[in-house]
Amino acid sequence: MDFAWDETMSVGVRVFDAQHKYLVAQIRQLSHALREGSGEKVIENILSHLAAYTSFHFKTEESYMLNSKYPEHLQHQEEHNKFKYDLAVLIQRHQDGDRVVNTDTYNFLRDWILYHIKDKEGGHDSRLGKYLIDNGHVKLTTHPKAEEVIPPHLAEDALDPESLDQTPDDTEDKDTEDESERGKEE
Ligand SMILES: [Fe+2]
Repeated sequence: MDFAWDETMSVGVRVFDAQHKYLVAQIRQLSHALREGSGEKVIENILSHLAAYTSFHFKTEESYMLNSKYPEHLQHQEEHNKFKYDLAVLIQRHQDGDRVVNTDTYNFLRDWILYHIKDKEGGHDSRLGKYLIDNGHVKLTTHPKAEEVIPPHLAEDALDPESLDQTPDDTEDKDTEDESERGKEE
């Protein structure tokens, strides 16, 4: 697995970075589930958590855009709406029994987030981050509160914080470690 959050994906605003990191962790979790051949229910749970989290994340960005009178608010929000729609269609098709969730889905999610954060023209989120910083709407030193990263209504199904440690291939390494630990205990 070569997709992980790293500093090159930073948009400078800590709360956005923390939320993006959590989004990346969920996409990694989907990749892991697909590789392991996890059941449809597991896939469905990952996707519905992702959809709920995406809504929460987009609302965070949109409230910053509104409060700072961000000039690209509408274009940025349009991209959010398009993504929410595409994800909702995907989940609906999955629930209807089509086996549509596969590595193409993973690629679509990964590519979308990478492009949205940072494309050749800067990416919507990078441009927003720069605007907020340049105009004094956020402080670089402000760390997000826990509930700004994982809101209470999504905390119950939240990912294990350990899975947020996103060194490449950590999932496989961790599995191997767990196996050997288990062996020792027995
Ligand atoms: Fe965004």
